[in-house]
Amino acid sequence: MKLIVIITFIYLCSADGVFQNSSHICDTCNCHETENEFILNCVDKRFTHVLADWPHHNKSLIADFSYNNISTLEKLPTSNYSVRLMFDHCNIKSLEPGILVNVVKVELLDLSYNLLTTEKIDGIDFKGPYVKEKYFPTALKHLNLAYNLIHTLPEKLFESMPHLEDLNLAGNGFSVLDFNSQHALSSLSKLKRLNLSNNGLTELVGDAVRNLTDLEELDLSYNKLDFVPNTLDYLKKNLKVLDLSNNPIYKLNDKSFLGLNLKYLYLNNLPRVKAVGPNTFATLPMLKKLEMCNNIHLRDIDREAFSPKQELVELYLNNNSLVEISYHLLQWKTLEIFEIMENPLSCTCDLYNISRDLKKDITRNLDGPSCVHSNGNGQMIYRLKEASVCTGKPYDFDIDYAEEHFEMLRVTIISLSSILVVMMLILTVIAILRYRRGTVVRNYPFTVQVSYNPLENRPF
Ligand SMILES: *[C@@H]1O[C@H](CO)[C@@H](O)[C@H](O)[C@H]1NC(C)=O
Ligand SMILES: *[C@@H]1O[C@H](CO)[C@@H](O)[C@H](O)[C@H]1NC(C)=O
Ligand SMILES: *[C@@H]1O[C@H](CO)[C@@H](O)[C@H](O)[C@H]1NC(C)=O
Ligand SMILES: *[C@@H]1O[C@H](CO)[C@@H](O)[C@H](O)[C@H]1NC(C)=O
Ligand SMILES: *[C@@H]1O[C@H](CO)[C@@H](O)[C@H](O)[C@H]1NC(C)=O
Ligand SMILES: *[C@@H]1O[C@H](CO)[C@@H](O)[C@H](O)[C@H]1NC(C)=O
Ligand SMILES: *[C@@H]1O[C@H](CO)[C@@H](O)[C@H](O)[C@H]1NC(C)=O
Ligand SMILES: *[C@@H]1O[C@H](CO)[C@@H](O)[C@H](O)[C@H]1NC(C)=O
Repeated sequence: MKLIVIITFIYLCSADGVFQNSSHICDTCNCHETENEFILNCVDKRFTHVLADWPHHNKSLIADFSYNNISTLEKLPTSNYSVRLMFDHCNIKSLEPGILVNVVKVELLDLSYNLLTTEKIDGIDFKGPYVKEKYFPTALKHLNLAYNLIHTLPEKLFESMPHLEDLNLAGNGFSVLDFNSQHALSSLSKLKRLNLSNNGLTELVGDAVRNLTDLEELDLSYNKLDFVPNTLDYLKKNLKVLDLSNNPIYKLNDKSFLGLNLKYLYLNNLPRVKAVGPNTFATLPMLKKLEMCNNIHLRDIDREAFSPKQELVELYLNNNSLVEISYHLLQWKTLEIFEIMENPLSCTCDLYNISRDLKKDITRNLDGPSCVHSNGNGQMIYRLKEASVCTGKPYDFDIDYAEEHFEMLRVTIISLSSILVVMMLILTVIAILRYRRGTVVRNYPFTVQVSYNPLENRPF
């Protein structure tokens, strides 16, 4: 009996040794307190296990263990305060079941940039506190599983996470959302933000998002979508932010965003988009910010792409192939930010009218975007003169250019005329002098005979 007790004791001691020794943890890591938070920074400390205990804290805890080397993430120590945990870049390959059972009020768990596979993650790994012989759901709100090796989601992965609001699955190689993944996502009826960026998705399966009625933000950038998915329609009630950048989308028309109510839309790096059709954005009455940059083949935005009632606040159109922008595209007065650098724009009256309507804070930047006159001369758009582009004259008579050079011309003319006047004065003086001398000579009696005029004295 004694032996068993001793063996158990020894076993417990050695089991304890599995955890990172946490007495005086603030000597090894960096501890720091603010009014509302206790911050434990153990970044890059070559830890191979989780801590045996948290340092004493009587406020919410932020524990950062990024860049350690923890192949199996063990149960985390007990805390009664709200906890945010970072275990990214830790070479984590597997999770001990119930890692979160002791952190009752865990809010955030970042497991990004690890080596987790579908087989190594399961609903039971994330179950919540065990009270009265029963597991409760975890309080987890933010879960980051980006850049792991998860190709499909276990069907019951989120079973114990009913409060999840924020899920990052970026960079995991979900080329399709299969049945299990669809089922897993369907259970997240409180989800507000979903990140599926960088996954090689060719479509967004309707059954995966049908139940995400609270979703406000969706990142679908860096995928292989040919179209704006029409399944976004399921999200129309609450979706505010949509990122479709870096996709082979080639069509943007009045059907693309029909029925949605977006505020922020990102359409950067769409190499196949050549034009934006009429009413493409007119169906988004709440749109405040639009980014459409680096779309190398985008030549044309239809003048009716927006509705006249729209009140955009931020518009980014840098580095496209836009040649013209219609003055009637937008209400330019409402913009706080407008960027249109790096486009082969021609200098038109539209551009002059646009810069006239834009806020002074925008057009004050005289070194801003430029356009090209038809004679090949470049000019800063916010320095365009009405007379040079709005008179209906052919552009090759460049009044602006002439105006800039007029001052020089004037100086030259004045100098030239001064020189002319002086020269004339000198000539006059010389002439007078000569005349005087002539009369003097004529009055001199002897030289008259000597003077010889070959014309007068030509012999016949
Ligand atoms: C933990 O480290 C402290 C010194 O920091 C040491 O006194 C203590 O013995 C260590 N505990 C274990 C179980 O290794
Ligand atoms: C929290 O703990 C610190 C010491 O670690 C103590 O000074 C402070 O009074 C405690 N605050 C509360 C609200 O218990
Ligand atoms: C991380 O730990 C594993 C064993 O768990 C070891 O093989 C590997 O060399 C360690 N890597 C680093 C960078 O320390
Ligand atoms: C957490 O709270 C429970 C009861 O609410 C208490 O028994 C326990 O000691 C507390 N744990 C810590 C680490 O403060
Ligand atoms: C979708 O959500 C509803 C209620 O929000 C729920 O009853 C239903 O089970 C969910 N569907 C799936 C597949 O989880
Ligand atoms: C999606 O995740 C990637 C990788 O973590 C990140 O760079 C990107 O900013 C995220 N998107 C949003 C909208 O947070
Ligand atoms: C413009 O966009 C192209 C294509 O996306 C990119 O390769 C290039 O670096 C961008 N140029 C600038 C100045 O941003
Ligand atoms: C520019 O504005 C003027 C005055 O508001 C208007 O008469 C003219 O038609 C506009 N030109 C273009 C091309 O929109």
